[in-house]
Amino acid sequence: MIEFKNVSKTFSSNGQDVHALQNIQFTIEKGDIFGVIGFSGAGKSTLIRTVNLIERPTAGEIIVNNENLVSLQPRELQRAKRNIGMIFQHFNLLQSKTVFENVATPLRLVKTKKSEVKERVNELLKYVGLEEFASRYPDQLSGGQKQRVGIARALATNPAVLLCDEATSALDPETTSSILQLLKRINQEYNITILMITHELGVVREICNKVAVMENGRIVEQGKVEDVLARPEHETTKKFVRSIIPDDLPEKVKQYLGQKGSDERIYKIDVTDETEQLSVFNDLVHQGLHVSLLYASMHEVRETSFGALYLSLKGNAAAQETARSYLEKYDAQVKEVTKDAGLVA
Ligand SMILES: Nc1ncnc2c1ncn2[C@@H]1O[C@H](COP(=O)(O)OP(=O)(O)OP(=O)(O)O)[C@@H](O)[C@H]1O
Ligand SMILES: [Mg+2]
Repeated sequence: MIEFKNVSKTFSSNGQDVHALQNIQFTIEKGDIFGVIGFSGAGKSTLIRTVNLIERPTAGEIIVNNENLVSLQPRELQRAKRNIGMIFQHFNLLQSKTVFENVATPLRLVKTKKSEVKERVNELLKYVGLEEFASRYPDQLSGGQKQRVGIARALATNPAVLLCDEATSALDPETTSSILQLLKRINQEYNITILMITHELGVVREICNKVAVMENGRIVEQGKVEDVLARPEHETTKKFVRSIIPDDLPEKVKQYLGQKGSDERIYKIDVTDETEQLSVFNDLVHQGLHVSLLYASMHEVRETSFGALYLSLKGNAAAQETARSYLEKYDAQVKEVTKDAGLVA
């Protein structure tokens, strides 16, 4: 659907080259809500702006619907761009025009009949929940309402792709959530492919099915959202994941460490959907240990659950040794937790 083939973009400013995009290569399938996340300056806006050639890449191809946009003639490009809608962090509405006229603008540009414009704009305003607001001006609207106008305008010409550059960054959490749910509905009901740029992993978690992490103009990690959140590999991805799923020792476990008995050991077990770790309880009990659950934190992302359990094992030295060698077979998923060293691999 959208394919970036070796896309690079270099800006020259004050005689210095800035490599904003470097050999970007990835594919967004039809129907995806694809999130691109990265810290400030990673190149996210530059990336999304190449999709409708607001920013022309220095090298590479942008394939949208089997057409390489980079090689299209101006007239063909104009036609292809009609298939790509965009919404912005600061909404970019025309302040001197009413809500109705803002949404009508792209239709008027392609010389749509007056009666059709009226019908389409009213239908869109109804869809985004603003039918009562047609004659207001942008400065008479809240941020969430402005973004709804932006969305209606972006959908006016029935695009196959919607680009969102930090579309919720100027909104409060509740409004963010309602805009995200609207985008999800648009994706499902109109089968529109969405590319979302954000610096908030919470946004990705809420509606995206795939995610790519950007740093210094490159994609450093990508995959299904549930896989990347459960098992982040790149350090930058880990930082983002920690922002919504803390991985430090829970306070309760820290306190418990200070008072645990000499015949007691504490383990952290990483749990994912695919593993059979939960039989661990039973197996350990059969090895003569007293097992108790100190703390559990589980997360569900797109019907995949993952998280961590903290277990206390009480038993004599021999039983502890049997348990230790038994737990070794879980390799990286099980770690002993100690007072001085925190987690022991
Ligand atoms: N027109 C331009 N001229 C020169 N350098 C530019 C231009 N546009 C972007 N850059 C540089 O390219 C790099 C990537 O910028 P970009 O705006 O794509 O980052 P971003 O990931 O969107 O950041 P933010 O989260 O702050 O919006 C930055 O180093 C930026 O300074
Ligand atoms: Mg940006």
